[in-house]
Amino acid sequence: MQKKWWMESVGYQIYPKSFYDSNQDGVGDLNGIYEKLEYLKDLGINLVWICPFYDSPMDDNGYDVRDFYKVSKLFGSLEDFRKLVDKAHELGIKIVMDFVLNHTSDEHQWFIESKSAVDNPYRDYYIWHEGKIVDGKKIEPTNWGSFFGGSCWNYDETTDSYYMKIFSNKMPDLNWNNPMVQEEMVQVGKWWLDFGVDGFRIDAVSHLDRDEFIDIKDSTDKYPLDWKKFSNLPKVHDYLKKMNYELFKPYDALTIGEVGGQATIEEAKRYAGFDSNELSMVFNFDHNWCNNLFEITNPKKLKTNVLDLKKTFNKWQTAFENDGWVPLNWLNHDQPRLMSQYGDFKYPLESGKMLATALHMKRGTPFIYQGEEIGMTNYPFDDVNEFNDISSKATYTYELEKTPDDPVRALKVASLRSRDNARTAMQWSKDLYGGFSEVKPLLPVNRNYRKINVEDQIIDKNSLWHHYKKLIELRRFSAYRDVITYGTYEQIDLDHDQIYIYKRKLNDQTLLIINSFSKKDIKYDLSSYGILSVLLSNYKNQKIKQSHITLRPFESIVFEIKEKS
Ligand code: GLC
Repeated sequence: MQKKWWMESVGYQIYPKSFYDSNQDGVGDLNGIYEKLEYLKDLGINLVWICPFYDSPMDDNGYDVRDFYKVSKLFGSLEDFRKLVDKAHELGIKIVMDFVLNHTSDEHQWFIESKSAVDNPYRDYYIWHEGKIVDGKKIEPTNWGSFFGGSCWNYDETTDSYYMKIFSNKMPDLNWNNPMVQEEMVQVGKWWLDFGVDGFRIDAVSHLDRDEFIDIKDSTDKYPLDWKKFSNLPKVHDYLKKMNYELFKPYDALTIGEVGGQATIEEAKRYAGFDSNELSMVFNFDHNWCNNLFEITNPKKLKTNVLDLKKTFNKWQTAFENDGWVPLNWLNHDQPRLMSQYGDFKYPLESGKMLATALHMKRGTPFIYQGEEIGMTNYPFDDVNEFNDISSKATYTYELEKTPDDPVRALKVASLRSRDNARTAMQWSKDLYGGFSEVKPLLPVNRNYRKINVEDQIIDKNSLWHHYKKLIELRRFSAYRDVITYGTYEQIDLDHDQIYIYKRKLNDQTLLIINSFSKKDIKYDLSSYGILSVLLSNYKNQKIKQSHITLRPFESIVFEIKEKS
């Protein structure tokens, strides 16, 4: 197997708006990231993925790009980014940018041209269609729904036609069938790689091809959302092969595609198998919702489906074991906070450490999402006006339509799933606004910043922060680095519904990783193993008696073992 630098990396994802505000305007910025690079180095990571900072009207916080060659004034300037990349490289940290291929902002010059006339040279940069006449009324070409609610078509009166947009109205979809669009995007990519970035996280990459424009039948929704109409369709692979040939490969760029929650393993392997010649790896979200989140309104009723989670982990680990690589991440800027999703508030430290170990000891490249390393939690939304995220607002509206008399329920449902949970200001210290800024931040600060913050956790050697640091040390610098990076993965006791256990093996080293998801003590039989040492644990000692270990709430241990024959 070919070894690559990114297989030996630990990544960290930054949402620039809420990471660190260096110029006291309430919004995080590139200089803020620059100032925190030493912090990241100290944590041990050597790869940073920065969410979009292109010029944008910020309908979707920068995923709506107005100019691919400009930095948004909100975040700073190109010179600031130059400084950031140079310093990161000096510190041995690679930089990966978000690359948005599926759409632009409706304020992008291409779209302004495109909508101006049917014979404009940019017309076919986007997907335009005539409306359909039904009962004498003009309606959308199809009834397909979009991710952010409503139709996936929007009407534009200039040419009396509809353009496709699977996200918001202000994010028209690019027409990848047009070779000019492909060429433009190769040029954008080249420009940034020439600038010095090391690769891309590729946004919404599975959506670049569309099915035939035929209505979805048998749905009670006015605009049913059927992912299959615009996900993982055959031509996406042609487009990516071309991008790979002309762009990614010549630069040896790292590429991590976002393939959403709907790609099957076979599809994922087509994107990111070692021989696929498309992407280095793909993010999937199958493990993000292994609980009853969609059935409850009270967060206290949340219950992790451990078996489901284990099955999902096993599926992705084994599918790529010989001929591909996976990123390892618990969450990103689109999901609720890990502690509020799978953690336990009675045992925050134990469960936080267990979750970190469970993920970081697997085979793949770990990514930490900002604030995860200190156990940041969901935000207690009291009012719909506290939502900044366009999709959280859409969920609220949709839920309110279902129960117009119960806005409280709608708010609760939207809050539990809200992407804004992950986007609150980073909690650096006990200072006002969590040390994120000296002025009131644009995105809220969680009130618990006095209890949960970086400064305290760096001082406290037993903190979650130090546990993450130890995990990174083990993976990158210890005598176990090869087995953790390149060793085989074998999940055992698949049917145990409370403990997630796996082995990593390389040459004569074998690690056994045990993670309890239970609040109760659990006995586990260790008689088939000779315990050589404990590399990491979230309790001071282990309770082992007659070859049986008693696992305390959320106990997690990395053993080095010898298997008895
Ligand atoms: C991806 C991004 C998300 C964004 C969407 C549209 O899913 O992660 O934040 O809203 O694409 O660009």
